[in-house]
Amino acid sequence: MPERGRFITFEGIDGAGKSSQIAAVVALLQARGCAVEQSREPGGTQLGERLRELLLHEPMHLETEAMLMFAARREHLAARILPALDAGRWVVCDRFSDATYAYQVGGRGLDRAKFEALEAWVHPGFQPDLTLVFDLPPAVAAARVVASGAAPDRFEREQLDFFERVRAAYLERAEQAPRRVRVIDADRPPETVRAEIEGLVLERWFA
Ligand code: TMP
Repeated sequence: MPERGRFITFEGIDGAGKSSQIAAVVALLQARGCAVEQSREPGGTQLGERLRELLLHEPMHLETEAMLMFAARREHLAARILPALDAGRWVVCDRFSDATYAYQVGGRGLDRAKFEALEAWVHPGFQPDLTLVFDLPPAVAAARVVASGAAPDRFEREQLDFFERVRAAYLERAEQAPRRVRVIDADRPPETVRAEIEGLVLERWFA
């Protein structure tokens, strides 16, 4: 049996600059000989990508939103994440349940007990091995979203105070699980952020 793969997730408010850093970590792991799958949430499977379309563009009740996030996640875990990890492949994923905590509980005000019930249902006892939270002031992140020129989705259209709450919830999550969840200062040049993240990954698994 191969050694189980590792599960690394990237988190942060919209505009935090995760994408290029995800590519860098995937390349780093591959250079170290790891088989790597890159994925994202909501999404990661055919059904998950269809749910993503709805989640990003269709108005819906807050609890519908939370349940659809976890529905997409259930499918993603069953169809991709767990089989890959069992087969010894690493999975690098853009967002996971910490995003539901940050956006739906922190940002939108979902009852925390309902989040915990969904999390315990969908992945009891399972968490990423490492979560990198990209932290930066919402105003800086918002300027990056605008500069990207892409049409904003339902989340990106939220106001700064929403992203302040999302940010605070991420930081709270990091305080609760400091070894798993590492906060990265994302308000720095990409090369600096990249060097820190690569150092973290190398120190944890390849030292
Ligand atoms: P992305 O643009 O980083 O791929 O994420 C899509 C959006 O979905 C982003 O604004 C955050 C939001 N989201 C939630 O609100 N809850 C979740 O559980 C996840 C995974 C994403």
